[in-house]
Formats: sequence, C-alpha cells, structure tokens
Amino acid sequence: MKILMVGSGGREHALIKKLKESPKCTKLYCAPGNGGIAKDAEIVNIGAMDIENMVKFAKDEAVDLVFVAPDDPLAAGMVDAMQAEGIRAFGPNANAAVIEASKVFSKNLMKKYNIPTARYEVFDDPKKAMEYVETEGKVPVVVKADGLALGKGVIIAQTIADAKAAIKSIMEDKQFGDSGNNIVIEEFLTGPEVSVLAFTDGKVVKPMVSSKDHKRAYDNDEGLNTGGMGTISPNPYYTDEIAAKCYKDIFVPTIKAMAIEGRPFKGCLYFGLMITPAGPKVIEYNARFGDPEAQVVLPRLKTDLVDICEAVIDEKLADIDVEWYDGATACVVMASGGYPLSYKKGIEITGLDENGGVDGAVVYHAGTKLEDGKFLTNGGRVLGVTARGNNLDEALEKAYSAVSKISFENAHYRKDIGRTK
Ligand code: AMP
Ligand code: GLY
Repeated sequence: MKILMVGSGGREHALIKKLKESPKCTKLYCAPGNGGIAKDAEIVNIGAMDIENMVKFAKDEAVDLVFVAPDDPLAAGMVDAMQAEGIRAFGPNANAAVIEASKVFSKNLMKKYNIPTARYEVFDDPKKAMEYVETEGKVPVVVKADGLALGKGVIIAQTIADAKAAIKSIMEDKQFGDSGNNIVIEEFLTGPEVSVLAFTDGKVVKPMVSSKDHKRAYDNDEGLNTGGMGTISPNPYYTDEIAAKCYKDIFVPTIKAMAIEGRPFKGCLYFGLMITPAGPKVIEYNARFGDPEAQVVLPRLKTDLVDICEAVIDEKLADIDVEWYDGATACVVMASGGYPLSYKKGIEITGLDENGGVDGAVVYHAGTKLEDGKFLTNGGRVLGVTARGNNLDEALEKAYSAVSKISFENAHYRKDIGRTK
C-alpha cells in the first residue's frame, strides 16, 4: 500500500514509524514533513492545509490510504475532499471534526447527552459575558474561545478583572480572530488530567492505553502553556475502575451522540479528561491524535496500525482486537530556548542518532530540517525523545539518558516529566 501522511510534527513522525512496521506498507509519503521524517518517508512539498493539491497528489500517485493527522485540515474538510475523489482517508469528516473545532458545539453536545463536563454558559456578546462573570462572582473561572486557536484559546482567570480582560481580548480585540466570535465561560475544575485517545469507526469505540501530558513550559508546572513538553503512558491516575466509568459514561455516549446527530465520528477521538472529586469529566475533545501523546501511545501498540485504519474506514472495528504492550513509555520534548514565545531556528543539533544512542529509545522529530547531512532546529518543539521500559522509572531513565547525549544551543527540556501530580 502507498500511504500519505499529512502533517509535519513529532506526532506524524511517530505515526509514520508505526505505519512502517506494517508489512502492508510499501511506500510512505509525508506532506509537508520535516528533516527527521525525511529519513522514514518521501517528503512531498505540499502544505497541510492545501487540500486541492493534496487531493491531486493522492490521485496522481494512486495513494491507497491518506492519514490526516492535524486538526486544521480535518476541520477544513480534507477527508471529505479525498472521499469525494474515491480516495480512502483516515480521520473524521468536517462535520464530525467540529467536536474539536467548536467548543460551543462540544459543550452543547455534552449537555444534550448528559456527558459529564464542567458547567458552562455560551456568549456571543462581550457585555453579557462580563455581566455574567460579575454576577456569578466565582473565581477561578475559565474563559474559552469557541474555535481553534493553536491551543491557546483557554484562559484560566484568577480574578473577575482578569476574566473581563480575557473576554475583551478574545471577543473585542479578536486575539484569535473569528475563533473568538463566541465564547464559553465555564466552571473551574480540579483534579489530575488524563488523555485517552480512542479508535472509533462511528459505531464502536476502542480506547487506547492512557497517557499524561505536561503542558507547562517549566518544571513544577510553571510557565506558559505549550503544545506539550512531555508525556508518559500509562497515566498513573487512570485506574481500571475509572477507565470502566469513562467507557460507560463518556466514551460510548459520545460516539452514540455523534451518530445520532448525523455526524458519525471515524478516526481517532481524543478525550481530555479531568478526574475530579465528583468523578471523571470531559475538559475537551480533539478530533485527532494528541501531540506528544501519540509519541508514547503508539510505541505500545502491538496490532498493525494499517489494519486498524482500514477497519475504521470500513466500519469494521468491532471485528479486530487492538492489542498493547505492557510496561510504560516516556517522551521528553527538547524545545528551542524561548518556546512557546520567540526562539531562534537553524541551530545545529549534535549527538543525534535514531535512538539517541540508547537501546529502546527513539527520537521523533518535531521541528527539524536536514541540510547538507546535518539536522538543524526548525521549530519550537524540536525533538520528542521517547523510550519504552518495563515500568515508568525504566522508561524515564532511558529517555533522559538519550536526552543527555543530544544537544543544541539553548535547548530546553523539563527535568520532571512523569514526576508531577
Ligand atoms: P484545552 O485547550 O481545552 O485543552 O485547555 C487547556 C488546559 O486548560 C487544560 O488542559 C486544562 O489544564 C485547563 N482547563 C481547561 N478547562 C478547564 C476547567 N474547566 N477547569 C480547570 N482547568 C481547565
Ligand atoms: N497535547 C495536547 C494536544 O495534542 O492537544
């Protein structure tokens, strides 16, 4: 099979390495990819949002399977466009990807179908939103832009004044453009967070092994929110009992709700959960694999990923067993100094080889380019240094050992992945 991966980050590199293990996969393309991905797939110079040229390429090359990994092209209907040309594509249609692309949609869905989530109100008028936070008078309070905002559209306001400032910057100053035409104001929840990715064909849902992201830039969960500075799998807070409750009260009801709404979700659905004192609740849905969650979940997948993709597309997921390796995985993200704000690019990376010089480790490239045989930094998150072990300690030890061999000027990584609450 000829397979085309759409996207360019560490998540896409992890997906590509897993797809390559399949005996069915004879040719892999990645558009637009990155320097490290170039070692595992043929790079195609088409932007992830260029739907027209992506479809044309897939048709011209007679690609058998297109895997659309990032949120934007999913929300923009890349899977629909592929299907319209008879090309098989993994990922939700645009009308289902809205579960991530619109927080107003996902909150209303959860309310309608009794799926546990934070209490909320929706506003299209900044004045009314400000009046509401004032009258409620509760802090912290969470202000969320409705649409996609590069993962930055969530503001946790510690005071009423901060909440009003957030409403103003999202709705009046249009900090996130049209993504902020509507906002959700919701109750602040507490408890450990868990990421659960799940395969679903719109009828059945098969949760993958759990994971835990570390979103803040610095140790002890300090600093700005990032795309994710590291992950572990499994998530120690996700007990079998909680998993059973999530399956019954959240995963199955969500898949059913989307089907009833005429928006069957096919692909990978990401449940961002919080284990609150009142039980697990949904913080957010993503219509795709998480990044860097994919980097720790996929190395634990035993079943052929190509078979799973085909079963999802053909709505036959019930017919296959999705199996996992025991043990644990850890991913430490090496980022450019300054990320998530401004940072330099084009810095040479040294000490880099495929497994970071450590048995059982693998280096997924997130933001690199290959020039004259050298790897240079080319993004905020540069590498996802990942390892599998018999347990979390072993996985962390191997991942950090590989990290210590790799260097580039101003490299920044967290030293406490897997050690935080
Ligand atoms: P999101 O972009 O929806 O993933 O939100 C980013 C982060 O904000 C989440 O990972 C949570 O840590 C936090 N967050 C979002 N909603 C809430 C909430 N209702 N209560 C507490 N924290 C929240
Ligand atoms: N790591 C969080 C996300 O992919 O949205």
